[in-house]
Amino acid sequence: MTADEPAAVHPADAELFQLFSPEGQRNPFPGYARLRALAPVRVSEALGGAFVTGYDAACAVLSGEKFGTVGAEWFDKNQPGWRDSPLLVSVFSSLAGANNPDHTRLRGLVARAFNVRQIEQVRPYTAQLTERALDTMAEHAARGDVADIPSLLALPVAMGTIARLVGVPEEDLGPFDGWIRKASVVFEVAVSPEALAEADAAYLNVLDYFHALVAERRKAPGDDLLSALIAVRDADGDRLSEQELVDLLAFIFGSGFETTAGLVGNSVVTLAEHPDQLAVLQSVLATAPDKLAPVIDELGRFDGSVQATRRMALEDVEIEGVHIPAGTGTIVFLGAANRDAARFPDPDRLDLHRADARPLNLGLGVHYCLGAALARLEMEEILRRLYGRYPRLRLAGTPIRTPGLQLYRHESIPVALD
Ligand code: HEM
Repeated sequence: MTADEPAAVHPADAELFQLFSPEGQRNPFPGYARLRALAPVRVSEALGGAFVTGYDAACAVLSGEKFGTVGAEWFDKNQPGWRDSPLLVSVFSSLAGANNPDHTRLRGLVARAFNVRQIEQVRPYTAQLTERALDTMAEHAARGDVADIPSLLALPVAMGTIARLVGVPEEDLGPFDGWIRKASVVFEVAVSPEALAEADAAYLNVLDYFHALVAERRKAPGDDLLSALIAVRDADGDRLSEQELVDLLAFIFGSGFETTAGLVGNSVVTLAEHPDQLAVLQSVLATAPDKLAPVIDELGRFDGSVQATRRMALEDVEIEGVHIPAGTGTIVFLGAANRDAARFPDPDRLDLHRADARPLNLGLGVHYCLGAALARLEMEEILRRLYGRYPRLRLAGTPIRTPGLQLYRHESIPVALD
């Protein structure tokens, strides 16, 4: 190579650049497969981080003690000035950015509210929201309008359910989808300063809202997570500061609906594109409607609504023979791990009978999704009621994906009900 010849791009890095392009993000699965074949663990100087696509390597990163979250330490080093962003400070001081001992303390305060028994109490309300949404879809169809899954079904059910648990009144929900969607860009790789400014402005509304709601609920407590956390805060300020209380509520509420709504939408599209598997679902619904867990796991494996998450190497570490230096930001492509043939035979085939799937779409380890049981409950109610009422549901146009891998969802999914 002569001095002025550009250095060749490593093939794995070329795949990564392609994966982060708008086209790569629209359908990342072929890119994941090529990248995994080249390097299930890739440390890239060109992209400034480590990238994991293999299932075993992903498990090692997510459950090992040598990796922590991307939080204050990483931002101080890599994104000086991040403390000027209320969004980054709030989100990365909360559960997602916390390491121990803070993570155990914060998670301990909310874990009970999201265990399977507690969550079951919200099922009748989720069922009611689903029936209401299906009525609205029928009204649209009767008028000759296209029924849209995200806006008419997935978001109203997912947002209404988490709002009930947290304690946000239904009449306040209107602007939250827009605010949270804008704010969600912080989880994507390489956020532009303009997008961050827009996200900050949106999230300030969320934080202001929760500050006001905490003040209101303090005077008149209810039977919800908000009131329970206010009681903890007021009884023992060492366990939860006022700022942590607001950050935690905003984060849980924000995490609780775009993700689930995304999985509902992705699943409707997947099932429409795999009529043989829709028939399998119909037979499960007819014969064993309470045995939907493997179906939901497989839908999440095949086309999950969270495709990637981030960690930082806390010390020098070796994963599958690849050296990852301390401090390296590490992206785990959950969606790629979920299509690893070494773990899932014939991984690109949707198989609702797949046993013991254990996909990573809800994460793994100490940061495993707090709302996993809730997400499953919502999926159960929606799948049962949607396909029970409209067994011949089909796509009535091309679904449109939103850009982004962290939140991987559809903007619109037009369907015909008959
Ligand atoms: C299908 C729907 C959902 C998906 C795909 C999903 C996905 C995930 C994933 C992958 C993680 C781990 C992130 C990491 O390790 O960095 C996570 C964590 C989390 N999820 Fe979910 N989630 C869903 C639904 C929900 C719901 C309904 C809630 C509402 C409570 C929720 C709240 C959270 C919270 C608070 C965390 C952080 C937990 C921690 O750091 O300890 N999620 N989720």
